[in-house]
Amino acid sequence: MISRRDFVLRASAALGVSGAGWPLPGWGTEDASPSVPGKDGMIVRSLRFLDLEMPAEYANSLITPMEHFFVRNHMHEPSTLDPGEWRLGIDGEVEKPLTLTLAGLTKMDQHSVINTLECAGNGRAFAVPHVPGVQWEKGAVGTARFSGPRLRDALKQAGVKPTGKHVMFRGLDEVPGKVPAFIRSIPIEKATDEDTLIALHMNGAALTKHHGFPARALVPGWIGAASCKWLAEIRVLDKEFEGNFMSPGYRMPNQPVRPGEAVKVEDTHPATALNVKSLIVSPRDGASMKSRAVHVQGVAWAGEAQITKVEVSTDSGATWQTAQLGKEQTRYAWKMWSYSWSAPKAAAYTIMSRASDSAGRMQPDSVQWNPSGYLINVIDRVQIHVQS
Ligand code: MTE
Repeated sequence: MISRRDFVLRASAALGVSGAGWPLPGWGTEDASPSVPGKDGMIVRSLRFLDLEMPAEYANSLITPMEHFFVRNHMHEPSTLDPGEWRLGIDGEVEKPLTLTLAGLTKMDQHSVINTLECAGNGRAFAVPHVPGVQWEKGAVGTARFSGPRLRDALKQAGVKPTGKHVMFRGLDEVPGKVPAFIRSIPIEKATDEDTLIALHMNGAALTKHHGFPARALVPGWIGAASCKWLAEIRVLDKEFEGNFMSPGYRMPNQPVRPGEAVKVEDTHPATALNVKSLIVSPRDGASMKSRAVHVQGVAWAGEAQITKVEVSTDSGATWQTAQLGKEQTRYAWKMWSYSWSAPKAAAYTIMSRASDSAGRMQPDSVQWNPSGYLINVIDRVQIHVQS
């Protein structure tokens, strides 16, 4: 009998896919054992539509290596895609509709942005009561250097009409059955921001298939869903795109809601920028420490805002000490932080981290529940045992 892991590897090999791994059998959700080629040690949340979560301990560097970068697919990745044949259309409310080739995009001015990409549903597993959707815990997040032409340069070539208010992206996902296509839009102001890209590269190499080869949108500081992969069309619209992934998908209640409360779609707005959030990378949850000298490390990010402070509590939140922030000056990337602590005695401890940002936000003590479990940014905590 072969193990699931072997089966996945053999299935991938039989299909001749390297690092793509599609199509793979769907074992449903939340199995940490199967491995996907090119994606080491990830938590498999779904294989049917590939959803891979990064274990928190991999967030130990500014740039997340590709093998540890989370993957979120709503449907099948494109099964065939010839970069020579591939075209990107720019149409809608423009003077001169365009068709761009990969070679043409490569010849445009290139710009790089180091961006922390987080799925809006990261942390959904902590929602009580339970909400449907991929049960991400802490690792549907990663930081990469994205490079490619600025979206605004491409839009300029097409000449946006004064009626152009939103920019829609359509991906080449293969849509199973009656599932609606992955199409979303962003406002023209964000689309023409100098850091919004048609990304061709991630961490210095061409995008991999899982991450949107040959071109994806990169909408820095916003929920991952804004950054459409496998771009096929960019359409300028006179209003927000109306479709499943704009409504009812990816919307936040206008007012805080009680856990379990239903919310009418007219009382919601689209989720855009990310929340302020921190993650304890080390020690790992459940760690048993041989020494009382504990080096607490982590990362913190705040979407379009800047991290101003990270505090650590070693006494379950009774008192807080300020952690040291890393020196990197990257507008949209997480900041690394650390705090050295000497445990007073051998015992069990709950270590917590709480970030604050330039928008005056601070992570809350408890989950801010909403019906889809979006933008959950409750204070992070790990339990450790100091042995002696
Ligand atoms: N783009 C397309 N075409 N199809 C998708 O399913 N998923 C979105 C976004 N872009 C998605 C997509 C979501 S929800 C997230 S969080 C990010 O891609 C994840 O990007 P990654 O898989 O490169 O980490």
